[in-house]
Amino acid sequence: MNYVEEIKSLDNVPSHIAIIMDGNGRWAKERNFNRVVGHKRGSDIVSLIVDVSREAGIKILTLYAFSEENWNRPKIEVDALMSLLGEYLTKELPKMMKDNVKLTAIGRLHSLPQFVRDILDNTVSTTANNTGLNLNLALSYGSRAEITDAFISISKQISDGSLSIDDIDENVISQNLYTKDIPDPDLMIRTSGETRLSNFLLYQLAYTEFVITDTLWPDFTPKKYYETLKEYSFRERRFGLTSEQIKGEI
Ligand code: FPP
Repeated sequence: MNYVEEIKSLDNVPSHIAIIMDGNGRWAKERNFNRVVGHKRGSDIVSLIVDVSREAGIKILTLYAFSEENWNRPKIEVDALMSLLGEYLTKELPKMMKDNVKLTAIGRLHSLPQFVRDILDNTVSTTANNTGLNLNLALSYGSRAEITDAFISISKQISDGSLSIDDIDENVISQNLYTKDIPDPDLMIRTSGETRLSNFLLYQLAYTEFVITDTLWPDFTPKKYYETLKEYSFRERRFGLTSEQIKGEI
């Protein structure tokens, strides 16, 4: 079956999808493989899901690829994840240019090793004018760190006189988050059955629909992706209103 066409035929295809790609370690363990094998397979699934998203016309795909807390994992795993990231970006850049994909990144990017920074900066600048899918990678990302950085940034603007306290509203806060140019996600998917946010986009997910799937990320095929989007398509997003208000009955 062509899952791209199936996705396109759904009502309410989300414009911005955020994914917590969880379960690489368990996938590897179930097969008596090293955890890194799970991450490698996870990286291949990233390529696949990016392709399906692009072909289905999804506008923004935010992937939680490495959290602030992930720095505390064994060095060998952190190093492997950094290498995989560098390899992924290097391998995919020509394809991103061909497919009109724009790459952006959110997080404390200065914490990344220099070689990843260099590849990342080059990918971001080379793809900056692309107008198709925006692939947004959360790297060294933590939502509390992001909110802390927003507080610091707003405080500096107040102290240098470029912002007044009276001007602070939700829009000002949004504009000082790492995601400032990106609308909030419509759908957040977490794989592997865990029902946690794990410090991911705490401010931005206020009205986002969540779909948790038991599938481990390395098993997250285009079919599973389609099923997840189908579940979303049945949701009624009320943004605090009543169902009758949304349907225009009152
Ligand atoms: C969570 O699984 C996954 C990660 C911490 C890393 C995600 C990285 C990738 C999918 C590959 C590299 C990324 C890109 C963008 C090329 P886990 O290790 O916590 O799994 P577990 O909970 O089963 O142990």
